[in-house]
Amino acid sequence: MKAVQFEKIGGPEVLKVVDIPKPEVRPGMVLIRNHAAGLNFADTFFIRGEYAIKPRLPDIPGMEGSGVVEAVGEGVEGIKPGMRVAAISQRTYAEYILASAKFVFPIPDNVSFEEGAAFPIQTLTAWHMLHTVEKVKPGHTVVVHSAAGGVGIVAVQIAKAAGARVIGTVSQDGKAAVVREYGGDEVLNYETQDFAAEVMRITNKRGADIILDAVGKPTFEKGVKCLAPLGHLILYGRGSGLPDPFNVARLMEKSTRISGFVLPVVYGTELMRAGVDGSFALMREGKLKMVVGKTYPLAGAPDALRFLSSRGSVGKLVLQA
Ligand SMILES: NC(=O)c1ccc[n+]([C@@H]2O[C@H](COP(=O)([O-])OP(=O)(O)OC[C@H]3O[C@@H](n4cnc5c(N)ncnc54)[C@H](OP(=O)(O)O)[C@@H]3O)[C@@H](O)[C@H]2O)c1
Repeated sequence: MKAVQFEKIGGPEVLKVVDIPKPEVRPGMVLIRNHAAGLNFADTFFIRGEYAIKPRLPDIPGMEGSGVVEAVGEGVEGIKPGMRVAAISQRTYAEYILASAKFVFPIPDNVSFEEGAAFPIQTLTAWHMLHTVEKVKPGHTVVVHSAAGGVGIVAVQIAKAAGARVIGTVSQDGKAAVVREYGGDEVLNYETQDFAAEVMRITNKRGADIILDAVGKPTFEKGVKCLAPLGHLILYGRGSGLPDPFNVARLMEKSTRISGFVLPVVYGTELMRAGVDGSFALMREGKLKMVVGKTYPLAGAPDALRFLSSRGSVGKLVLQA
């Protein structure tokens, strides 16, 4: 099979398309003829050796994909050859992926493989922050940073579907239109505007009930400042660096909360199923669409990762395998 492999850690330039044997199905696992792999910002950390999971060289990046089930291992129930599925796994920048059956989700016929590949990580991350870590509801004001990005544009839609007022932030004005198109009530440029002051102005000095922050250092402190009483900032990434150390006593000023979120905490739990069902329900109702910003062939993986790091991308970038 063709796969995108790297033999040494580094930037996108270390990625090369190679021909290697396809994986063999094992008990509890599903072999998928992969048609599309979703790119995640974390892939850029993975190939640099800076992600929680370290590469075992030579290794293949990729955490999610979508295709047709080719074979299932002993003990797998409910997933059959020929099914169209999306999956969370490892080494998904490849024509075949092997995934644990627990992380394989059948996709509806009207969902393309590109949309399927865009679904698992970004949608479940956004869904669990808003419905598991928090309970977003009508009347809430939700600030979504990097709102035009993969997780961001889904979070905007899920918050909107729950009846919240959504303030999206972006670092480039050109990305504002797509945030509005998918439900952003207000869009701020956090590079050129004081977003905390703007959030206070827009909310008549009350502040935001929920802030979803994966930017980190430049947005975290200001975010705490513009939380409403009892408001909650969820930190789930560090695109622009880790936040500075923070004095938690400041949380008493307005009874606010800060928490962190990483998707793997729900893997293999009942919550995982709730997130998949809840997200597909929103998709069926037309309240949640996967936004595939750009597709690339496998050989385009270096360019795709460069584009993801450039801050210019909108929605999800997908490799077609
Ligand atoms: N905790 C979890 O389980 C989890 C799961 C998935 C993703 N994440 C995190 O969520 C964030 C979004 O992930 P994604 O895969 O959907 O990517 P993405 O949003 O499609 O792309 C990354 C975006 O991050 C923003 N960004 C901020 N500072 C940046 C910098 N210094 N360099 C490059 N981009 C920067 C950019 O938007 P603006 O410039 O407009 O802000 C950029 O478009 C990432 O930080 C990722 O690590 C966390």
